[in-house]
Amino acid sequence: MMKFNKMKLFIIPMIILLGMTGMLNITHAQTWKFAVISDTHDNDKTHTTTGVTPYLAPIINDIVEEKPDMVMETGDLIVGALTEPTSPVYKKYAVQYAAFQKAVEPLKNANVPLFVIRGNHDYGAANEEADLQKVYLEKFANRMPQNGPADAKGLSYSFVHNKVKFIMVDQYVHATNKDATLPMDWLKTELENKQGVDHIFVMGHSPAYSPTNEKKRHFNLYDQPALRDQFWDLLVKNNVTAYISGHKHVYFRGNVKGVEQIGAGNLGSALSYNPETADKNLTNLFPTTSVSREDNRPGYIIFTVDSDKNTITANEYCLDTDNNKYLYDTYQFTF
Ligand SMILES: [Fe+2]
Repeated sequence: MMKFNKMKLFIIPMIILLGMTGMLNITHAQTWKFAVISDTHDNDKTHTTTGVTPYLAPIINDIVEEKPDMVMETGDLIVGALTEPTSPVYKKYAVQYAAFQKAVEPLKNANVPLFVIRGNHDYGAANEEADLQKVYLEKFANRMPQNGPADAKGLSYSFVHNKVKFIMVDQYVHATNKDATLPMDWLKTELENKQGVDHIFVMGHSPAYSPTNEKKRHFNLYDQPALRDQFWDLLVKNNVTAYISGHKHVYFRGNVKGVEQIGAGNLGSALSYNPETADKNLTNLFPTTSVSREDNRPGYIIFTVDSDKNTITANEYCLDTDNNKYLYDTYQFTF
C-alpha cells in the first residue's frame, strides 16, 4: 500500500507537468495528414450509369483509415459535360453529383472535410451547360470557403491549416475556346499573404507542364506558355512547396525551378506515361521509366506533415486489380 501511494505521488505530478508542457500530445499535435484525389469521373463516357469511377468508393475507405485532417479533389468530379448521349445519366448532373457525394459519404461520417475545385468535366466546352453550373454551385461551391475573387466565390479559395496554406485555383471562369483561365491578381495576393505560414500548396486542375507531347487544345495550362510561365514564376517567387493537379490521367512528378509539380490524375481513368515525351522544362522525378496504361493504376496521395522535424512525406498509394492498395511512390520534402 505504501509503495502504491509513493508511485502515485510521483506519477500524478508527472502527468500534470507533461500536460502543462504539451508533451502528452506530442504525436497528435505535430504530425497530421491530408489526402489528395483527382479525376474521380468514370472512364466510360458512353455507358456510365453514375458518372463516377467505381474506384472512388474503395479509395475513400482507404483514406478514412488514414485519419486525415482533410481531403482535396482537384477537379473532374463526374463525367459531367463529357457524358455521351448513350449513357443513362446523360445531362443528369444532379444524379451524377449525388453519386459522387454517396461515394465520399464515409468522409462526412468520419468528420473529414472535403475541398473540391472544378475540372473541365465540371464546366463544359464553354459553360453552355447551365444545369451543370447550377448543381455544382449548389452542391459544392456554396459550401467551400468564400474568400475567392468576386467572380469566383467558392470556385477559387484558400485556407490555412496548422501553418500550411492551401490555395485552390479554378481554371474556368470566363473560359472560352477550350483555354484555361487563372485568377492571377487574386493568386498573387494569396501567395504574398503568408504571415504565420510555413508551407504553401497550390492546386488546380490542369498541370502546368505536360506529361506528354500531345498538342490537343483542351483546357491545358501549357497551351498558353506565357500565362503558364507567369503563373509558375509566381509559385517560384513565393517558395511554393508543390503544385498539384489532375486532368492528364497519369501519376507523374517533376520539378521546375525548384517547385514540385505533382500530377495526380490517375484515379478514374488511365493514360500511359513516357518521361521522354514529357515537357522538356520538367526535371522528371517519378516514374523514371515508361509506364503502360494498364500499369498506371488508380491512386491517391497521403501527405504527412511533421512540424517537429519540419518534413512533409508524400505516399502515393494505388489499387491493384483486386482493389488492394500498394505503395507506388514515396518521397519527402525537407525545408
Ligand atoms: Fe479527367
